[in-house]
Amino acid sequence: MSSVNGHVTGFSDAAERRRRLHHEADVLIIGAGILGCALAVTLSKQGRSVLLLENSLKEPDRIVGELMQPGGAQALEQLGLRDCLEDIDSIRVHGYRVSYHGNPVNLEYPKDTPSSPRPEGRSFHHGRFVMKLRQAALACPNVTVVETKVTDLVTCSHTSQVLGVECVTKDSRDCYFAHLTVVSDGCHSKFRKAYHPYIPKARSKFWGLEMRDAKLPSPGYGHVIVGDVPPILIYQIGTHETRILMDIPEGLPSASVQNGGVKGHLRNAVLPSLPECTRPAFLDALENSPLRSMPNSFLPSSRNKTRGLMILGDALNMRHPLTGGGMTVALNDVVLLRELLSPEKVPNLADTSKVLNQLSNFHWRRKNFSSVINILAQALYSLFAADGKTLISIPPITKLTKIDDNLRALQRGCFRYFQIGMAGEPMGLLGGLLQQPFVLFRHFFTVAFLSLWVVLKEWPIYLAPVAILRCIMVFWTACVVIFPYMLWEVWC
Ligand SMILES: Cc1cc2nc3c(=O)[nH]c(=O)nc-3n(C[C@H](O)[C@H](O)[C@H](O)COP(=O)(O)OP(=O)(O)OC[C@H]3O[C@@H](n4cnc5c(N)ncnc54)[C@H](O)[C@@H]3O)c2cc1C
Ligand SMILES: *[C@@H]1O[C@H](CO)[C@@H](O)[C@H](O)[C@H]1NC(C)=O
Repeated sequence: MSSVNGHVTGFSDAAERRRRLHHEADVLIIGAGILGCALAVTLSKQGRSVLLLENSLKEPDRIVGELMQPGGAQALEQLGLRDCLEDIDSIRVHGYRVSYHGNPVNLEYPKDTPSSPRPEGRSFHHGRFVMKLRQAALACPNVTVVETKVTDLVTCSHTSQVLGVECVTKDSRDCYFAHLTVVSDGCHSKFRKAYHPYIPKARSKFWGLEMRDAKLPSPGYGHVIVGDVPPILIYQIGTHETRILMDIPEGLPSASVQNGGVKGHLRNAVLPSLPECTRPAFLDALENSPLRSMPNSFLPSSRNKTRGLMILGDALNMRHPLTGGGMTVALNDVVLLRELLSPEKVPNLADTSKVLNQLSNFHWRRKNFSSVINILAQALYSLFAADGKTLISIPPITKLTKIDDNLRALQRGCFRYFQIGMAGEPMGLLGGLLQQPFVLFRHFFTVAFLSLWVVLKEWPIYLAPVAILRCIMVFWTACVVIFPYMLWEVWC
């Protein structure tokens, strides 16, 4: 019933007439991406009148958001949107295969109880999944989807409350108004700047290729390759298509101009570290399919303090995509908001004080799941990029030691931990299934101590003082890896 571009197709009720003719609603959402669509459907089911504004309703073609963790799939289920994972040629994901310097270990998502089914993630073409979510929004009588490019927020000059947006629809200027305006325009958000105290920082990019009929050592698993090169991710996204994402930090020597740039790095460093069976498809993709890149950003979240406004999704909070957690965070945010902004708790969204109060609760409560995913992504990336330069800050004391050697000691400890079968809970954390920050903390430091043990065993007994000094440095490095990200979560 809802249609695009403001074409009037008849009104089902007064609220729809207000949306179409007067451009007014309870909630206005900028961006029909992962978060925007899920939120539109969810709030509309609670009887809110929703306007969903999207720049382009064509199927997106991007290299992001292609592997959904089981915790994201569970959130979709709770929102009644699980169907969006079907009929898009999606692939079931049972866990990860981590290969460290060529030694693989398979890690599965943990079962809730021994008798429950093993949780599973899904990988797919991002655009197909987004189109399913958009169809779900279009099918809601309380949502009107409009294809329009939002150009500005409209604010009240006295109170600076956000009242709505200005936009351009097919070359003509337009306005929409609502009690609550949601900024969910993604990683390059144009509208967060004035309201979000932090700016995204990217120290590396993911470069992506799509391989045809690639052979993987463990089909049904996400493949992570670490050790000799910056992290590489491989996962099937359709019956015939397989995505490979290759991290390239700023200033990586093997990707310098003298060494043939990015293509040189892919040929000389990435190719030899791939499993033998995957190389033919990779070489073929390198020759024949487009190479694309995206920045890998880190953006701490911040409390929404502006009346009439709510920033969500990648516009609010980003972490390195190494662990594929972005969509899981976004969908769990929607689940939490469904509770906090329900008509029972906030009868009228025009009551901006009550909304602000609930957004403050949201900010703290979301940390249960978002901080686990954020810290894990950043810490694992710091560890496996094994490049001191990717760490947030390196206090002077670390000048006394070779930070990269310490990171390698921690890598060995981490991989050893996986090998001895300790990956159940960490995989639960990564999959968005275990929403307990303290469990992450405990595992991280168990890994740190295991690394010290591995270091100690490498030194003869008469060099014990040196070994102990080395342990202190390794432990210090572990702290430098994780504490800055933990502090972001606790204080911001
Ligand atoms: C390289 C990479 C790989 C990733 N891989 C994964 C992964 O495997 N798993 C995972 O869970 N997450 C992954 N992520 C993160 C994930 O892609 C994001 O967290 C997720 O897409 C965020 O959803 P969103 O709704 O906030 O933004 P988006 O999905 O980007 O949606 C934003 C929408 O806003 C629209 N828009 C923008 N500006 C305007 C405007 N002015 N007017 C109207 N509309 C506008 C856009 O057209 C778009 O439709 C990855 C990220 C990167 C960078
Ligand atoms: C639409 O909103 C009305 C209230 O305005 C509500 O009663 C109804 O359940 C909603 N419909 C759907 C399908 O969500």
